[in-house]
Amino acid sequence: MEESIIIIGSNGQIGTELATALRLKYGESRVVTSDIRQPITASPGPFEIVNVLDKEALQSLFEKYRPTQVYLLAAVLSAVGEQQPKMAWDLNMTGLLNVLDLSVEYGVNKVFWPSSIAVFGPHSPKEETPQYCVMDPNTVYGLSKQAGERWCEYYFNKYGLDVRSIRYPGLISWKAAPGGGTTDYAIHIFHEALRKGSYTCFLSADTRLPMLYMEDAIRGTLQLMDAPSEKLTIRSSYNLTGPSFTPSDLSEAIKQHIPEFSIDYAENDPRQAIADGWPSSINDEYARNDWGWKPQFDLAALTAEMISNLKQHLETT
Ligand code: SER
Repeated sequence: MEESIIIIGSNGQIGTELATALRLKYGESRVVTSDIRQPITASPGPFEIVNVLDKEALQSLFEKYRPTQVYLLAAVLSAVGEQQPKMAWDLNMTGLLNVLDLSVEYGVNKVFWPSSIAVFGPHSPKEETPQYCVMDPNTVYGLSKQAGERWCEYYFNKYGLDVRSIRYPGLISWKAAPGGGTTDYAIHIFHEALRKGSYTCFLSADTRLPMLYMEDAIRGTLQLMDAPSEKLTIRSSYNLTGPSFTPSDLSEAIKQHIPEFSIDYAENDPRQAIADGWPSSINDEYARNDWGWKPQFDLAALTAEMISNLKQHLETT
């Protein structure tokens, strides 16, 4: 059967790269991108303006394209969510429920929805955080992701909807700007290193967080979506990770390429408290065992890729 794929929230950090990967795999016309506004750079293939909170408009999109796969990426991230908690809850939860309902109604084969390390909290084990443990998220973003995971599993059990999900760690990429996350220092730092040779970090030098290079994240996502349904033992969301590192580790890695690079640290940024509640490293053995996950980029490799790609990108834009 020919696939008909809809990506909702395609202008963001993940959507931009996932759209390219899916179009390469399935063909341009088979992948419909959608967002609340036109993308800054138009990409080939169909695009529709849709607000995921507008269920009627969303229904028209499902009616028009009869999707076999849906990727819901529209969300408010951790730092922005703390500024507008109710709005973040509404977008993240109502958006998900709208998509799950329509996916059942229209017989969608597979749905992808991203969760996050933000589902963990101060009482979760900090190191090698396991798939199953105490979870006491304390950000609205984390609350919405944890509740969302429960809904995904519920729709799978109750309606047989084939929902698949990954708890992404901090995603590091150069193609599209990140949108209001706590792990985003690890992207800003590269921009500033190349532009100014220095960076003031909003997290402390020793704040260790799990991260993942976008190329790995996209590969992992496609791998999960291709996995036979019976192999998947988790219908809430899979732990997944690449390297874990601190701002200080990252700045040393950057110095290998830009020796004059310097970093200093801002105090009392509200994002520090968010990061302090999150794991320092993640155990992703379920993803490894169930569908063969294995990251390819360690800290040195992702730093080298970020610097060379971003340098070229900044020179040409
Ligand atoms: N990268 C996200 C954030 O920092 C975590 O999922 O909000």
